[in-house]
Amino acid sequence: MKEILEKYERKSDNLLAILHELQDSKDEHYLSREDLKAVSKYLNLPLSMVHGVATFYSMYAFKPRGKYIIRVCQSPPCHLMGATTISKELMKILGIKFGETTKDKLFTLEMSSCLGVCGVAPAIMINNKVYGNLTPEKLKSIIEEKRREK
Ligand code: FES
Repeated sequence: MKEILEKYERKSDNLLAILHELQDSKDEHYLSREDLKAVSKYLNLPLSMVHGVATFYSMYAFKPRGKYIIRVCQSPPCHLMGATTISKELMKILGIKFGETTKDKLFTLEMSSCLGVCGVAPAIMINNKVYGNLTPEKLKSIIEEKRREK
């Protein structure tokens, strides 16, 4: 954690970037109470303010998540192109609902608004990588690939 903090100047402008990098640096993709305390101390900001900012944004999580965060776009273009089928298929393959993490801690399923790649709808994002033009078959092979990569 120390190395991440020290990459940034002690300015409140860096708060979001620090929180983002801290969260991404962990296999469990979340911010613990200790993380928030350390950031508060480093930036010399009240803990209540760091907590308030972090909880305002949906991109931060406060309980452990899977190694792979799967965000399924639910915005109208993806919806029209089959996001419902993709969502059902993912729940079936992974055996979890939205907001849940698989028992092996490999996958967390989340809903998302537009991922900015409407031209390849329906789309999902796994960590920082986007996958588009999805079909149930394509989805199965992506998940199998991730399971092999673990
Ligand atoms: S609506 Fe799904 S990526 Fe834009």
